[in-house]
Amino acid sequence: MADNKALLARREKNIPRGPFNVIPAFAQKAEGARITDVEGNEYIDFAGGIGVNNVGHAHPEIVRAIQDQAEKFTHTCFHIFMYESYVELAERLNELAPGDFDKMSFFLSSGAEAVENAVKIARYNSERSGIICFQNGFHGRTLLTMSMTSKIKPYKFGFGPFAPEVYRMPFAYCYRCPFGLKHPSCDVACADYLEEFFISYAAPEHTAAIVAEPIQGEGGFITPPPEYFPRLKKIADKYGIKLIIDEVQSGFGRTGKLFAIDHWDVAPDLITTAKSLAAGLPLAAVTGRAELLNAPHVGGLGGTYGGNPVACRAALAVLDILQNDGLLKRGQELGEKLGKKLLKLQDEFEIIGEVRGKGAMLGMELVKDREKKTPATEETKKLISRCHENGLILLACGNFGNVLRTLMPLTISDEDLDRGLNILRDGLLHITENSA
Ligand SMILES: Cc1ncc(COP(=O)(O)O)c(C=O)c1O
Repeated sequence: MADNKALLARREKNIPRGPFNVIPAFAQKAEGARITDVEGNEYIDFAGGIGVNNVGHAHPEIVRAIQDQAEKFTHTCFHIFMYESYVELAERLNELAPGDFDKMSFFLSSGAEAVENAVKIARYNSERSGIICFQNGFHGRTLLTMSMTSKIKPYKFGFGPFAPEVYRMPFAYCYRCPFGLKHPSCDVACADYLEEFFISYAAPEHTAAIVAEPIQGEGGFITPPPEYFPRLKKIADKYGIKLIIDEVQSGFGRTGKLFAIDHWDVAPDLITTAKSLAAGLPLAAVTGRAELLNAPHVGGLGGTYGGNPVACRAALAVLDILQNDGLLKRGQELGEKLGKKLLKLQDEFEIIGEVRGKGAMLGMELVKDREKKTPATEETKKLISRCHENGLILLACGNFGNVLRTLMPLTISDEDLDRGLNILRDGLLHITENSA
């Protein structure tokens, strides 16, 4: 039987280093919130394949849906020969997405592709080209979405020139307020800044869309205050600019609501989803105002694999699990429990500068000292590798790589959660003792 070392040697010889790897091991099987490698080592999964496995690995209903569909047909291409699951999934997303207006949805294969298509739709409808996105934002690795992404290394470095007509605003990063203000006395000046941004950087008459993550994922689980998105939407509406909310990482129950933007009670014009939408099968969606989605001409939108029938069936099963099995409620409970534990760790460890997020999408920003907030980048790296050695898969994020994020399956058992948190605490002890 292959071992990790031998497989790693084959990987290094045959696959470029660009597609990164976090754990130097190869999966044999995964169930719930556990992954077992080819040598039989077991890991608690706090990463969920980067937020893809909200319903857990190998959920029996997902497996059943995939098997059933695979026996019937795996691909016809929706553009060539249609199937009901695509239509049913669109109906359900249209019903569930925020907004008291007619909606439509269509499907693609990756998060980046969904964001690209949402931008295409906004541009087509407005006959404007400008896109406003945000510092610390992440939207993917294609030319346009890489251009919209904020962090230079590793995402953009050496890959230019970038797509034109992309403008970047500071985000509502309260812990490191770009305006040096404090919430709530700031009165969300970062949202009102949009009016000033129009003067110096991007004319509103030329701006097609504002694209924002409700909680910035790769950027550090940055969670804007309650007034932020309503204010931003109001200004966008004033100028006829579409609000595109990128729910690729924050969506599908992660925050205890189906869409994270529901926490701000805002109805975006367009929403992009992917990741946990189909429990690991490559599926992404653009959902939004029917008149916007329906405007582009026939053939202007689509893709060979978009809305693959196996992926659509998996997504329908995800929705059943989230709605019928009470997984949204479980996500809320998990979030509360997790939040309490992380705040307790913050009391214990000076290095934890802030705990933030919504539901089970929580981040802990590590700093060398709480006063200056110097990012504890090296310490975070050490902590993560210690956790990996002890069988916990944990991911960092943030432009300084100093934010720990929780993306475990919402189905995680209390036992696995506690085990994972104990490993995390050991990691914190390890780095704080070492750095003392
Ligand atoms: C908010 C957000 N948008 C877009 C993407 C890109 O998705 P994909 O990797 O499926 O292209 C990601 C991926 O992490 C993401 O977090």
